[in-house]
Amino acid sequence: MSIKTATINGVATIEIARPEKKNAITSAMYQAMADAINAAAAEPSVRALLITGQPGIFTSGNDIEDFMARPPHDGEAPVFQFMEALIGCDKPVIAAVTGGAIGIGTTMLLHCDFVYVADDARLAMPFVSLGLVPEFASSLLVPQLMGNRRAAEKLLLGDPFTGEQAVECGIANAVLPAGEVLNHARRIAERFNTLAPSAVRESKRLMREPQRAALRETYRNEAEIFGARLRSPEAMEAFQAFFQKRTPDFTQFS
Ligand code: COA
Repeated sequence: MSIKTATINGVATIEIARPEKKNAITSAMYQAMADAINAAAAEPSVRALLITGQPGIFTSGNDIEDFMARPPHDGEAPVFQFMEALIGCDKPVIAAVTGGAIGIGTTMLLHCDFVYVADDARLAMPFVSLGLVPEFASSLLVPQLMGNRRAAEKLLLGDPFTGEQAVECGIANAVLPAGEVLNHARRIAERFNTLAPSAVRESKRLMREPQRAALRETYRNEAEIFGARLRSPEAMEAFQAFFQKRTPDFTQFS
């Protein structure tokens, strides 16, 4: 299992731990993350959740081999259970990001309450570069956060961006030296041990609930198109190009 979980001092940590594949996330890993979020949400001793990766890599996003072999088949697929768990979580979720945060590695941050990124962080949402479309309600949240112009750079061109830029455009709270990100995020998470827990949950719910229906509708709409596109010739070309370590050739498509 490539998801490690531990609850220490009121903080449930979910650690993506598959460094040999740059922390690419498989269906089984989405399921483990969904289960861990739901368990933490239900466990009274947990005051906050912390999501992190490995030094130098948060996650390279969805496992591309898994995309090809096991595309999400319906709304119950593990990736959607993960999305639903994160969108619906009323306890604070803190993310600590070092290195690459690609695809869902960036879009999951849009649903966290606090995001701390390392000075070596490199975020990207290269869905179009893979012949795909945005997911996890990023087609709604990214333009909302930073406006259509900067959203187009990130979602249409798939331009990568730094931790500093993630702060500027409202995705992250702060940039820290890589060696300090996790401890800083943990200190923020532990502050919830001294705050009134139901007041925190009710407040987060008040902040998030008005938009949850729109987020669910958006990620389901995106998923329909995304699912069809996973089988598209453009995506096939992009996936093959990735494993052949070459640039995809989209000139053959219209
Ligand atoms: N899915 C499946 N395997 C992946 C992966 C992914 N998303 N990301 C990396 N890997 C695998 C590579 O195939 C490679 O496997 P191998 O050792 O068996 O050949 C291994 O992880 C190391 O990756 P590599 O590309 O050699 O590392 P790198 O340091 O040169 O580059 C990244 C790191 C993250 C920049 C690069 O791997 C990458 O761009 N990954 C894909 C990102 C992506 O498009 N994600 C999907 C978003 S929807």
